Amino acid sequence: MGVLVTGACGFIGAWTVKQLLSMGEEVVLTDVSGDLTRLRQVLGDVGELPFVRGDIVEEGFIEGIVKKYSVEAIIHLAAFQIPQCRADPVRGGMVNVIGTLRVFEAAKNSGGSVRRVVYASSAAVFGPPELYGEGPVPVHVVLRPATHYGAFKVCNELTANAYWHEARIPSVGLRPQVVYGLGRDVGVTSDVARAIKAAVVGKQFKIRFGGLVDLQYVEDVAYLFAVAALRDLDGARVYNVRGDVLSVPQIIELIEDVTGVKGHISYEDKPLPIPAALDDSETERDLGPLNKTSAREGIEKTASYFRHLHSRGELDTSDLP
Ligand SMILES: NC(=O)c1ccc[n+]([C@@H]2O[C@H](COP(=O)([O-])OP(=O)(O)OC[C@H]3O[C@@H](n4cnc5c(N)ncnc54)[C@H](O)[C@@H]3O)[C@@H](O)[C@H]2O)c1
Repeated sequence: MGVLVTGACGFIGAWTVKQLLSMGEEVVLTDVSGDLTRLRQVLGDVGELPFVRGDIVEEGFIEGIVKKYSVEAIIHLAAFQIPQCRADPVRGGMVNVIGTLRVFEAAKNSGGSVRRVVYASSAAVFGPPELYGEGPVPVHVVLRPATHYGAFKVCNELTANAYWHEARIPSVGLRPQVVYGLGRDVGVTSDVARAIKAAVVGKQFKIRFGGLVDLQYVEDVAYLFAVAALRDLDGARVYNVRGDVLSVPQIIELIEDVTGVKGHISYEDKPLPIPAALDDSETERDLGPLNKTSAREGIEKTASYFRHLHSRGELDTSDLP
């Protein structure tokens, strides 16, 4: 089937394209950025993959791609992250909310060619951990995000629900938390991937948060997006994503252990304003069996990619202080 990936030049986008190709799927890529570095690093060779550059907000842009390439499913990852939404909430709303509406409109106007939309929601839809009490937080609870970014993601989940009821477009929204791996360099929670990079090149680095976090290795998340696009589910579904829940000091210890570089990484003892542990039993039930790379293995893989690029003089360290 032809799968359109929006935000394909981004971190999760590049890995999702790799995953789809390894499953034998045909892909079409789009992004406002023309920077193919992540795609090249993740895929090795971008070759002749169809890539259409443009702004998702622009009327008719996604619709044009859907028609030209007879797209059957859309994996929608293009978005502004928390700092970009904070700096410019109006533009953030255009990209994250209107952009998502454009994707659903393109599906609606495709004459039935687009069979489903899979989109990145986020664990940022949740409010502060105090709202939820003990134990892993289920999917359907009160959502009271404290950021514009989280509010836009809640809006997108509701948008998806409306498109199911009004136009019968099936959708899956996935809520990752702290995704890490090669290519992660945007957003506050990119600090875990950047700390691994800092250790590999022997630089000092401070992670801007503490407390418990759920570390999710990017290949597992990309796999989930791909499976969600290919599985025949109806309704407007939303799923929590869960990886390995660890404290930031435990993560630092693992990075030091894996890289052999001690004393370079510190952290701010300020927890992220969302619950760390989410209940992903519905994800396992409908999209499983899930791939769950342990934090140690994911950090090893990421450090090894960084080491390889560093040894060839190709590691971009501009995201390190
Ligand atoms: N990385 C995480 O830990 C994480 C966690 C939860 C949710 N998410 C969500 O997953 C998705 C992918 O995240 P990522 O880490 O790959 O982000 P990223 O910032 O690496 O990639 C986002 C991509 O969207 C593109 N984009 C931005 N504005 C655009 C526009 N107007 N038109 C077209 N493309 C545009 C960017 O150029 C970029 O390539 C996002 O929706 C994000 O909110 C990510």
